[in-house]
Amino acid sequence: MSKDNDPPNPLEDLQKQIQEMLRRGQIPNPFGPQAGGPGVSASGAPPAQNETADDEESERDAVLRRIRDFSLRPREIRDYLDRFVIRQDEAKKVISVAICDHYNHVRRCLEDARLREKEYAKQNIILLGPTGVGKTYLMRCVAKLVGVPFVKADATKFSETGYVGGDVEDLVRELVRLADNDVELAQYGIIYIDEIDKIAAAGSAGTGGRDVSGRGVQINLLKLMEETEVSLHSQTDLLGQMQAMMEMQRSGKARRRTINTRHILFIVSGAFDKLPEQVRRRLMSSRLGFGATGGGSEVEDAELLTRVQSSDFIDYGFEPEFIGRLPVRVACRPLDADDLESILLQAEGSILNQYRADFTGYGIDFSIDRAAISEVARRAYEEKTGARGLMTVLERLLRDFKFELPSTSIKSFSLDARIMEDPRGAVRELLKANASSQREVLRKEVESFAERFHSQHNFRLDFDEAAVEALIEESLRRDKTIRGLCEEKFHDFHHGLTLIHRQRQQDRFAISAAVIANPDQELSKWVMESFKDLREGGAD
Ligand SMILES: Nc1ncnc2c1ncn2[C@@H]1O[C@H](COP(=O)(O)OP(=O)(O)OP(=O)(O)O)[C@@H](O)[C@H]1O
Ligand SMILES: [Mg+2]
Repeated sequence: MSKDNDPPNPLEDLQKQIQEMLRRGQIPNPFGPQAGGPGVSASGAPPAQNETADDEESERDAVLRRIRDFSLRPREIRDYLDRFVIRQDEAKKVISVAICDHYNHVRRCLEDARLREKEYAKQNIILLGPTGVGKTYLMRCVAKLVGVPFVKADATKFSETGYVGGDVEDLVRELVRLADNDVELAQYGIIYIDEIDKIAAAGSAGTGGRDVSGRGVQINLLKLMEETEVSLHSQTDLLGQMQAMMEMQRSGKARRRTINTRHILFIVSGAFDKLPEQVRRRLMSSRLGFGATGGGSEVEDAELLTRVQSSDFIDYGFEPEFIGRLPVRVACRPLDADDLESILLQAEGSILNQYRADFTGYGIDFSIDRAAISEVARRAYEEKTGARGLMTVLERLLRDFKFELPSTSIKSFSLDARIMEDPRGAVRELLKANASSQREVLRKEVESFAERFHSQHNFRLDFDEAAVEALIEESLRRDKTIRGLCEEKFHDFHHGLTLIHRQRQQDRFAISAAVIANPDQELSKWVMESFKDLREGGAD
């Protein structure tokens, strides 16, 4: 908003914004057409005025109806999650129950406004577990199923920007935006915060912390999780603030434009890498005999995470009040090679389907046999990045196929254990076997270059057989596409051809192998000749 070099000038900004408002002939409403509509204020009081059009009304009804009709049972949510997420049974159970509780509560609140004011203990969740095992994915799936306002953010965003205060409140405002500015709906939404372990305060016994602002972020989040009124306009939203002011002048009273966070469900998650070790130390010092051998295996780490207590989180660098607001704790397990194999074979939305679709986009049929799937899973497991390892392994395996095959006439290929040993060699073999039909593909590309040239410059290039052969040879030898090659060779041709056209009205040109070998030299020869014609013609 400021000029390029000058420091920002708030007065200038304000002036600009006012001019902009006048230009539009209205006071723009940063919260859209519904803001003055049926949004019930946080206190539950009816809105001061109702200017909502019918179609907006019905849209809101539809959303409300979906929530009023919320009738899923925990087992049904679990079954849905099973389609996409492999393992993590405990997490699925816990999330299913929490979501059902939350939306049943919402439904009852919508049916009976008095319930809104009643005490209700929120089932905020903390999801623990190693990287890439489905923590975020679980929540994405749930949000899609339930279809309610759902905001996801990384906790690191808050500490890194340095805004400690205003920022976390943006999450709530984002919910309002997603709920089509319906404040009442938004106050029953879900906020999901990932990487929460990164805002552990540094310097405590735990070593998870990164900087001092972590503590500040925790405290601000804590307020949200508990209960607070969040202004619908952030401090930096000048227009919003002004609009509220003008409205107050007009109507003579200030409408409360805040949202209460009491019923927003919070789910936080993080890898908490160093937490298992800490739990182990605690268990050892209390002589429960856990991990006396100091194993540190993945499975053992997962087991330790299921035994985590509030005191462990506090030692890790969390405020007791913060961790106390997250009563539901559940750990996602590490995935072993068999689990990764199941993801490839069974999970809807598996990465394999994505690769299949990518190849289908080029008309290529891609398949992978069972042995190769096991091998991919085995290698992915070695990556130690959970299911993300699958992506890494497949990408490495298929990158040459993805690069080469779309430019060929190859219409299918199958990944098997043999190919996995040497994917690059396999691609080379495929290309060699396809060489004769590849020449046909390249021949067609010469034709389509000639067509493009004609439609761009109105000159016809007639490639003779030897010229086409020469292009194909050069394309194979230099590993360049025909298109790239022709664009390089005929880059300046239309200038020369235009000159010739002026002299002789010629618009068709024969392209021989000699032109392919020395395009610029041949072109200037042509141009010279056309001028010679002219001189000779003039002398007659
Ligand atoms: N249990 C699982 N079943 C099926 N797919 C999974 C599973 N776990 C992970 N994936 C796949 O791996 C991707 C990455 O997983 P996700 O984003 O959930 O990791 P995460 O547990 O949140 O890790 P991080 O701690 O690094 O954020 C998902 O988008 C999904 O495609
Ligand atoms: Mg995640």
